[in-house]
Amino acid sequence: MRCSIAPAKIILFGEHFVVKGKPGLGVAISRYAKVCVKEGSNKIYSTQLGVLEKGSKYRALFDEAIEHIEEFAGKSVCLDIYVDSPIPIASGLGSSAAVAVALVHATLGLLNVEFTKEDVRKIAHEAEKAVHYRPSGVDTTLATYGGLLYYRRGEFRLLDDLQLPTDLSLIIVNTGIKRSTGVIVRDVLGRYERIKRVAKHIYEAGREIVRTALKAIKRGDKKLLGELMLVNQGLLWSMGASSKQCDELIYKLLDLGALGAKITGAGRGGAVIGLASKGMAKFIINELIKSGYEAFIAEPEYNGVRHINHDQLLPL
Ligand code: PMV
Repeated sequence: MRCSIAPAKIILFGEHFVVKGKPGLGVAISRYAKVCVKEGSNKIYSTQLGVLEKGSKYRALFDEAIEHIEEFAGKSVCLDIYVDSPIPIASGLGSSAAVAVALVHATLGLLNVEFTKEDVRKIAHEAEKAVHYRPSGVDTTLATYGGLLYYRRGEFRLLDDLQLPTDLSLIIVNTGIKRSTGVIVRDVLGRYERIKRVAKHIYEAGREIVRTALKAIKRGDKKLLGELMLVNQGLLWSMGASSKQCDELIYKLLDLGALGAKITGAGRGGAVIGLASKGMAKFIINELIKSGYEAFIAEPEYNGVRHINHDQLLPL
């Protein structure tokens, strides 16, 4: 049996504005999908979803990935696949990309073929394309390589020399509302067209936020990062990407002492993120969990996909 883990991701700044050619900034986080494979009879078992039957909604990703793996390896494979992914689904955290990347990495390892991380990313991206409407590739890139990613117009730059300030934790809270990226992107673009002269300034401000955020990261300026998150959230709100539930959670995070908070990814549900110093984050998370929220602390993760022993627990 061969097992691999791959991380989830969040978008720190720039979502939606990237659709009009502005830059975005994403980071991999310490929440992982673990996939184990062994020769078998095409069974897929998920800790969270149970047995994935042939033809079921979530099965397509696996079937597509296997097809591309077979093409790459030049041989056919018949596997039993075990998935353990505590990454919330359809919440903007890149859960399917993390699963696809871990699956490809584990399977290529099992097949004992030579491969690079770039091969893993490419194959996982092909599988993602089959199940998501025009995926940007951010999720598969971050699940493969980890770290901070600057991207613009399909061009990806992994910022290997940059790390978020060390005394900083990310707080992820799930609204529990699953949403479709495609639908929200279309609605936001609709507003863009209706208020183009105004929207251009909003998007330009989005670009400046990413530039200023990069400087703040280099300087280790947590407070400024939090403030930029709030401004970014205001711009996203003005374009219709937030929702009452997201806004409530953002206020909750701020009331509890977060330095900043915003939606992450498409918005109108999914996950909301907050920034806080490490000590404060522990307090905030305890309060959120006590109040019944599905929330967790995540650290930036800089390693990306890797093998793991089958009996090894997911890192927290
Ligand atoms: O919520 P997610 O992870 O699917 O991210 C969507 C990000 C958008 O900028 C809204 C769309 C895109 O393709 O970049």
